[in-house]
Amino acid sequence: MTKNIILIGFMGSGKTTIGRFLAGELGFDFIDTDELVEFNEKIPIPEIFQTKGESYFRKAETAALRQGMEKGQRVIATGGGIVTQDANKALLNKGKVVYLKASPDQIYKNVRKSTSRPLLKVEDVYATICAMLEERQELYQAAAHYTISVDGRTPKEICRSLLRGLR
Ligand code: S3P
Repeated sequence: MTKNIILIGFMGSGKTTIGRFLAGELGFDFIDTDELVEFNEKIPIPEIFQTKGESYFRKAETAALRQGMEKGQRVIATGGGIVTQDANKALLNKGKVVYLKASPDQIYKNVRKSTSRPLLKVEDVYATICAMLEERQELYQAAAHYTISVDGRTPKEICRSLLRGLR
């Protein structure tokens, strides 16, 4: 397998944790588009949203994805909104796209203590997750070459079945 493996899915679905693990197992490099955006822009994501706005972030995210795809044998974890931008579709399609599918309950469990996600700085986090997931579900599904359910499973378990499924 030489194609890049690109992990997509909602915030809190475990893309970064699982991605690091998977990259280690495959001997691939690991890239996280959120980390790359912060590195390139030299400020944290909440600050980018606050001072420059979401559409600026989306452009920086596309640039980071393009940068990530420049070389092969990489596992690339993406931000949850990567599928919302048409500009990313062709880029994503150059890799093997894996959708980490999580339920609203699992997502809520994973993100409820986090403060680093500007789109979830809302009064009713659970309702926002449900509404955004409803909007994005089809986009994740349409972009994915492979879907795996992550609810109640450890990164190690998910990684093992991914390695079997991607062979
Ligand atoms: C976003 C998800 C975040 C980050 C940004 C926007 C989204 O990444 O890119 O806050 O639109 O879903 P994670 O999915 O890694 O939390």
